[in-house]
Amino acid sequence: MSKVDIDWKNLSYNYTKTDFRYVSKWQNGQWDEGALVEDNMLSISEASTALHYGQQSFEGLKAYRRQDGKIQLFRPDQNAKRMQDSCRRLLMPEIPEEKFIDAVKQVVKANEHFVPPYGTGATLYIRPFIIGVGHNIGVKPAPEYLFCIFCLPVGSYFKSGLTPVNFIVTDYDRAAPTGTGRVKVGGNYAASLYPHKLAVEKGFADCIYLDPLTHTKIEEVGAANFFGITKDNKFVTPNSPSILPSITKYSLMHLAKEYLGMEVEERDVLVDNLDEFKEAGACGTAAVITPIGGIHYKDNLHVFYSEKEVGPVTKKLYNTLYGIQFGDVEAPEGWIVEV
Ligand code: PLP
Ligand code: COI
Repeated sequence: MSKVDIDWKNLSYNYTKTDFRYVSKWQNGQWDEGALVEDNMLSISEASTALHYGQQSFEGLKAYRRQDGKIQLFRPDQNAKRMQDSCRRLLMPEIPEEKFIDAVKQVVKANEHFVPPYGTGATLYIRPFIIGVGHNIGVKPAPEYLFCIFCLPVGSYFKSGLTPVNFIVTDYDRAAPTGTGRVKVGGNYAASLYPHKLAVEKGFADCIYLDPLTHTKIEEVGAANFFGITKDNKFVTPNSPSILPSITKYSLMHLAKEYLGMEVEERDVLVDNLDEFKEAGACGTAAVITPIGGIHYKDNLHVFYSEKEVGPVTKKLYNTLYGIQFGDVEAPEGWIVEV
């Protein structure tokens, strides 16, 4: 597909094959150099641990086209570090941070004409992943690994831009209390497919997971973290060992404090006490900031600011984050990496 075929303003979250992807192999205790390839199909052993035992991890980050035409990444070092955490948890070899960032840059550069133009709101989504491969049948770590990165242009994950969406609390858990919820591994997402389907069938954008131990506290909003703005203007977000530490959420905590002068709290968010919030949102690389219109829980839809319009604090947070990501607002030191 060439650039002219893409309707940048109406992109959704679907797969598009771009020109180049990166593949590096771990064998005999070390990573090879890695290379860009055109083939988007992988050939792996039928006995790969990634296929049977879920020994794999993935990341998600984006490349942004600035007004001056240059391309930049948002905090790729944080994705590299989180992937190292995931690798440690599943006994996979870590990818050095420098190798990770260099490979991301190579992939973006090689697919530069797929980076959406400034002003369209669209971005280039980058998907690094590591899989256990090689011949193995026992439940043990794989003898070999592939580290790959592909990319594709995307628009909004939920509804377009800052349109609020509604969510429903599910009885299902995506992760166990000391399981793998805090790392980015495929099994967590396999577990989320069914509750997601039930939520969509009931007319909601996705489901909200409560803490797996007591089912009283908000954990995740589908594949995004939760934040709420209290009536006295504090930025509040859940603290739990079973949620994925969202890079967007930690960035928003910093921006709320340092750019907007708000108090910030990472603590329990009781699903029975949603009334403490005047606004709420979901945040993540794919979700960016998606305002939460309402949350359905126990036959009641709790509406925050509005089901139709974004609240003023959420909007300010969005404008600050979006401005930094697209290069219009000065970023804290070290957050932006030019490609
Ligand atoms: N929570 C889950 C389960 C996710 O899959 C994601 C997406 O990566 C997030 C939260 C948001 O994390 P981040 O802001 O690092 O993209
Ligand atoms: C992301 O925000 O990068 C995610 O991983 C969410 C989803 C597309 C899996």
